[in-house]
Amino acid sequence: MTQNELVMDLTSFCRELPKVELHAHLGGSLSQSTMLQLKRLYADSGIPDKTNAFFDEFQIAAGDTRSLSDCFQVFSIAHSLTSMPQALALATSLTLEEFQNDGCVYIELRSTPRETPYMSKKEYIDTIVQAIRRSSINLTIISKLIISIDRRSTSQSAEETTDLAIEFYQNYPEVVVGIELSGDPTAGQFKDFVPALTRAREAGMKITLHCGEICNPAEILEMLAWKPDRIGHGTMIHPRLGGTTETWEALCQLKIPVEICLTSNVNTKLIANYEAHQFKECCEAMVPVIICTDDKGVFATSLSQEYQICAETFGLDQSQVARLALDASQHIFDDDARKLVTDKILNFIECKEL
Ligand code: IMP
Ligand code: ZN
Repeated sequence: MTQNELVMDLTSFCRELPKVELHAHLGGSLSQSTMLQLKRLYADSGIPDKTNAFFDEFQIAAGDTRSLSDCFQVFSIAHSLTSMPQALALATSLTLEEFQNDGCVYIELRSTPRETPYMSKKEYIDTIVQAIRRSSINLTIISKLIISIDRRSTSQSAEETTDLAIEFYQNYPEVVVGIELSGDPTAGQFKDFVPALTRAREAGMKITLHCGEICNPAEILEMLAWKPDRIGHGTMIHPRLGGTTETWEALCQLKIPVEICLTSNVNTKLIANYEAHQFKECCEAMVPVIICTDDKGVFATSLSQEYQICAETFGLDQSQVARLALDASQHIFDDDARKLVTDKILNFIECKEL
């Protein structure tokens, strides 16, 4: 077999492997084709989408010179294309379909409820929830929603989002599974969101926190000690990457599953290159890792591509790659779907004799 055939082989394997996506922001997951359809919807409705900016500006490639905070500006492009309920519903269904077409069998999509000129925060959540419910009729991918709290928001706004999140979790437990903290990591403080997050946890919701995107050992320790169900990124926890012995030991001891987003971390320069990622150290320390995309539209990637990059960077064979997907399925928030998804991946492993 030539090197090219081998690469092709891994590409189709990663594509075919049943995968779970546990860290995907709706606004950052819009593909070029989805954005074009959304632009058409706005044009047909006679409503300007308030942006002439397009894909070049939306995408953040490896050599991008924008700062981490600048990177957060790109989401306003996605936001202007999802301000109307019809557009938000379309963005949700097209994105779920794209994940399914990439071999993803289960997804926990996340999004930040926001008030727009065309809908309230409550209508924002309801639009996504109903789009997910409709998608379960024509798509095979199992789709859930995690409601995001933006670090830039006030405590009052976070409390309001939490009230709504709990209400939707109680009314649609088959769709809404958790709550998370994200947004520009240089803004806000974790401790200000603890009361809201604690209320969500007490109501039975699962919690995931963006953690370790910047060098802030004190906050990382507070977050880990609070024992979220999962964390996102976890980049600057290892001392080699800006963490401290204390932060790394805390993660190794608590073994909180880490949603890792390789291309996102490289393109926003959290790490110098793929090889520098903490993936190997986490595996050696038996800290569970879950391969995720973060923002597949912004970073021009896909879940199968992230699996392939991981395999190539860390020299994994097909059996090890399949076991990454299997291990990831242990950390999904929906108890009912967990066994179903695990069985699907186990069946694939058996069929492929891995
Ligand atoms: P939305 O929540 O569906 O609007 O998706 C976009 C939002 O996700 C952004 O405005 C950020 O708040 C959040 N987000 C996307 N990528 C990242 C990341 O890498 N770190 C922290 N927050 C992020
Ligand atoms: Zn993220």
